[in-house]
Amino acid sequence: MEIYLAPLAEITSKEFRLLSYEGGADGCFSEMISAKAVTLRNRKTISLSEIDEREPKTFLQFFGGDPEVIKEAAEKILERVTPAGIDINAGCPVRKVVAARAGSALMDDPERLGKIVKTLRGVTDLPLSVKIRKGFKTPNYERCAAAAVENGADFLTIHPRLRTDMFSSGTCDFDVSIKLAEKLPIPVIHSGDIREKSDLERFEGTKIAGVMIGRGALGKPWIFRELKGETVSDEEKKAMMTKHFRHYIDLDTKTAHTMIRRHASWYSTGSRGSADFRRFIFDQANDIPQVVRIINDFFEIEL
Ligand SMILES: Cc1cc2nc3c(=O)[nH]c(=O)nc-3n(C[C@H](O)[C@H](O)[C@H](O)COP(=O)(O)O)c2cc1C
Repeated sequence: MEIYLAPLAEITSKEFRLLSYEGGADGCFSEMISAKAVTLRNRKTISLSEIDEREPKTFLQFFGGDPEVIKEAAEKILERVTPAGIDINAGCPVRKVVAARAGSALMDDPERLGKIVKTLRGVTDLPLSVKIRKGFKTPNYERCAAAAVENGADFLTIHPRLRTDMFSSGTCDFDVSIKLAEKLPIPVIHSGDIREKSDLERFEGTKIAGVMIGRGALGKPWIFRELKGETVSDEEKKAMMTKHFRHYIDLDTKTAHTMIRRHASWYSTGSRGSADFRRFIFDQANDIPQVVRIINDFFEIEL
């Protein structure tokens, strides 16, 4: 079973994807990229589509509500980069995205979802996938999956929660993913609540082709190797963490400083004293040398 890094907005950057490959990911998904912003030539958005040459299998994910806009964005991006494939976001529950008739709003309009897939199919021979949910307010994943298949999608990912469940509430219904994989003629990847090897065991003997790890990879980019049964040493973990922090220290921008604190707080999860550690680093927010000293002490690394 393949284990992928899930798309996570503002997190699954080139840097985080490279770390995840080092940590055993079989493939990675970019964060969602606004098709509209690409067509408006927003430089920051376009930079999200960059893929490092060391990335072996990275998919770019687009969100948008208008088939023609997604088509134009894909054409523009494919002139610059060749991803492993293109993924369409039909699951984002965030109000702003839904208001733009994109993300999970596409689940309420399977015809438009199908049209988006069909339009993209006309633009590229690269693998095309769609990431759906169980439904918007009520389950209609079978209908949406059928629209994706009929219009040429090569595989599909499902996060089996309703839009109203957002990311954590409601149940993440593993049986929905399993049933869908039985029915569809294309591979199905499950996304949601995978943290331990025992979570993966629930898919043994099923047709699920792969899983995605989202929040489970935060502060733990080596989780992929662990899920595959490998032991990752403390030295290896510290080396990965050091590389990650150094990247942001070298960038030395306001956003990079925020990312240092966010990732440090994820890396500290589960360690003794992590609540105090988090308080310290957020208290010292504007004093980066001091934040770095606190990080060095806490993780016993040398930045
Ligand atoms: C902070 C955050 C950002 C996310 N961003 C995206 C995104 O850009 N595109 C997408 O399809 N899903 C996004 N998701 C959903 C995840 O890809 C995933 O389906 C969901 O978190 C369930 O998986 P998990 O339990 O492994 O985190 C996001 C989730 C979180 C928590």
